[in-house]
Amino acid sequence: MSGFFSWSGLFSATTRSTYSRHVDDLARRFAEFARAFEVGAPLYARIAERVAREPEVLDLMSVTPETQRVPVLLFASAHHLLLAEPSHPLAGHYPNLDRANPEGDVTDHFVDFVLSRPEPMRDLLATRSTQTNEIGRCNWFLFPMSILNDEIGSLARVDIGSSAGLTLLAPYIGYDVRPGGVIASGSPLTIDCDVRGEPPLPSRAPDVVWSVGVDASPIDVHDDDQVRWLEACVWPDQVERFTRLRSAVALARVHDVHVEKGDAVDDLADAVHRAREHGHPLVTTSWVLNYLSGERRLGFVEALDRIGATTDLSWVIAESPHETPELPGHAGSDELITVITLVTWRRGRRSVNRLATTHPHGHWVNWGA
Ligand SMILES: C[S@@+](CC[C@H](N)C(=O)[O-])C[C@H]1O[C@@H](n2cnc3c(N)ncnc32)[C@H](O)[C@@H]1O
Repeated sequence: MSGFFSWSGLFSATTRSTYSRHVDDLARRFAEFARAFEVGAPLYARIAERVAREPEVLDLMSVTPETQRVPVLLFASAHHLLLAEPSHPLAGHYPNLDRANPEGDVTDHFVDFVLSRPEPMRDLLATRSTQTNEIGRCNWFLFPMSILNDEIGSLARVDIGSSAGLTLLAPYIGYDVRPGGVIASGSPLTIDCDVRGEPPLPSRAPDVVWSVGVDASPIDVHDDDQVRWLEACVWPDQVERFTRLRSAVALARVHDVHVEKGDAVDDLADAVHRAREHGHPLVTTSWVLNYLSGERRLGFVEALDRIGATTDLSWVIAESPHETPELPGHAGSDELITVITLVTWRRGRRSVNRLATTHPHGHWVNWGA
């Protein structure tokens, strides 16, 4: 074995103390993770409890940039390799891999699995960060897009921070709105949405004639390795979410969703100007503007204000006010929850309408809250 304890004699005292601080800190993070997720994510909680006592496994994360050294990155990296080897006994313990009769102890399998693949594990741990793209968030856009369709007709959408572009599938999926009924019932993928309050119920899927995603690190849905990383970032206990992600990626391949590499602020105006040639330009942002500094967020708003001064434009914001206080409607609010806000520019005049609060993955929308 090539872990710390076999080569620690080569270290200076200073290096050794820095090193053991790093391992101790990681051990603490895994132990905390185990306690926090014992109920919500029992598989990872169990593994985390064991990893906290395995310096050799923790040592694999020494290649990871400091800001990324979190338990979920180790889990996602192992999951990524496991998805490519679904017949490994560890897979028998992963609920999303749907294998009957798990054998042996899952934590033994996990430790053995990662330590016997040090190179690919280190490669992933050094270069990746966790990624999410949640198809359930189409529920965040369904109602505001319906309001805009009624007001102004077909939309041309620019989704900033689009990841793999899965929410660009909003016009192609079905919605089981409860209460309300099913919208676009013939779609190959239908997502549920529990509604509180009384949103205007759409009679059909959103009318979007053109769309583009922009992302600093886009995921290409046609690239198996990139898709596997997106899958690997879903926790195995979340079986339904995992299955839904696979269906969404399959649909994104059929519809060829288009996501370009670009920056939220620097490439915004160009994307909006292209959109304008196809329909009413709609910008959407969901859990991306929290990645920007406050100054860059202000730059984002200013860029839209500049366009809105001369062009009718709309923006659906689905972000947390706590994380993005500079955005329209967020000032003075410290809410961590996702708030859906519709911002419109009509004949140069900007209006801001708070519409709803919502579940992080779109399972419910609380209209008017
Ligand atoms: C948490 S994901 C959200 C993905 C998607 N909007 C959703 O709601 O499922 C955040 C995305 O923002 C992207 N991102 C972060 N900073 C960015 C920037 N400055 N410009 C463009 N995209 C950025 C990341 O690469 C990532 O794909």
